[in-house]
Amino acid sequence: EKGGYDHFMLKEIYEQPRSIKDSMRGRIYPNEGKLQLSGLKQYEEKFKNADRIIIVACGTSWHAGLVGEYLIEEFARVPVEVEYASEFRYRNPIISEKDIVIAISQSGETADTMAAIELAKERGATIFGICNVVGSSIPRLTHAGVYTHAGPEIGVASTKAFTAQVTVLTLIAFYVAQIKGTVTTGKLVELLTELESIPTLVEKALKANDLIVKIAEELKDSRNCLFLGRGSGFPVALEGALKLKEISYIHAEGYPAAEMKHGPIALIDAEMPVIVIATKNSSYEKVISNIQEVKARKGIVIAIVTEGDTDVKNMADYTIEIPHADEAFLPLIATIPLQLLSYHIAVMRGCNVDQPRNLAKSVTVE
Ligand code: F6R
Repeated sequence: EKGGYDHFMLKEIYEQPRSIKDSMRGRIYPNEGKLQLSGLKQYEEKFKNADRIIIVACGTSWHAGLVGEYLIEEFARVPVEVEYASEFRYRNPIISEKDIVIAISQSGETADTMAAIELAKERGATIFGICNVVGSSIPRLTHAGVYTHAGPEIGVASTKAFTAQVTVLTLIAFYVAQIKGTVTTGKLVELLTELESIPTLVEKALKANDLIVKIAEELKDSRNCLFLGRGSGFPVALEGALKLKEISYIHAEGYPAAEMKHGPIALIDAEMPVIVIATKNSSYEKVISNIQEVKARKGIVIAIVTEGDTDVKNMADYTIEIPHADEAFLPLIATIPLQLLSYHIAVMRGCNVDQPRNLAKSVTVE
């Protein structure tokens, strides 16, 4: 049932070209620059007039929410807040009937996310779900929603569900942009055409596996790891750190690269590996100066770079190339090497990758 892979996690990492494709199938029409999300159709007016969107989720799904914030604000121009469901539900949050709440959950059973939905519903918000498990509890609590079509995720560490959630959030961002007219049809043609090619780019990113095994060999005895990224690369850094800590038990933290100098830089020495998302996009030059700061303190730099990059390659200890894509799609591709890196490190450390200690696949208690 692991399809020839040693672990479900690895199988699920490799399924991503397929699960991303399945999550957009029948929903995008690149040639016409159009999208169709039947779950949202009935609420088109609501989305058009929404004052803001609040995303609630936990863990990896919360990281997907942060990517969603970036995409929805960029393309649909609606203010977005991303909340930990556990905090939101106990904070007496200000919610009105003009608010839209998007709840993200792979399992559809997370207790805190369910409680957040119930609270927002009581206060009159319209609730959308992004879930993976059909027939689970959360889709029954929401007004409408869009399923991710990642297929069953068995490994406790979420991988293909995350990229499927990001895919659906990308669709929602473009869909709202379409109905609000914040992006031209011409631009949507361009964006959707590129989105359609993402599964192929993910396939290419997976080819770095052998190199990643070598890097994992170097990092496997580390006690700490720092992950840095900017823009849509920041949630990728958070997700990379979470994957590493949950399956390999190495302490890891994700930070926006520019925040490094406000504290974490104090930790950097020859024992501190720093994994940096340094792809060629708007913050490239700034990330380069962060890398220089790390190198000046003898930190070990592992950089995720755009294919053909030379500048970062000259500075970093290791570079992992990923194919070029618009900044909007960066998280879908840059996450892949980080999943593989945690996987291999955990295997080398003898950890139970599919069932890490103290963790459960569905967190049905608060
Ligand atoms: C991390 C992980 C957890 C879940 C979180 C939410 O790999 O799996 O952080 O993302 O427990 O679970 P769902 O998405 O099922 O609500």
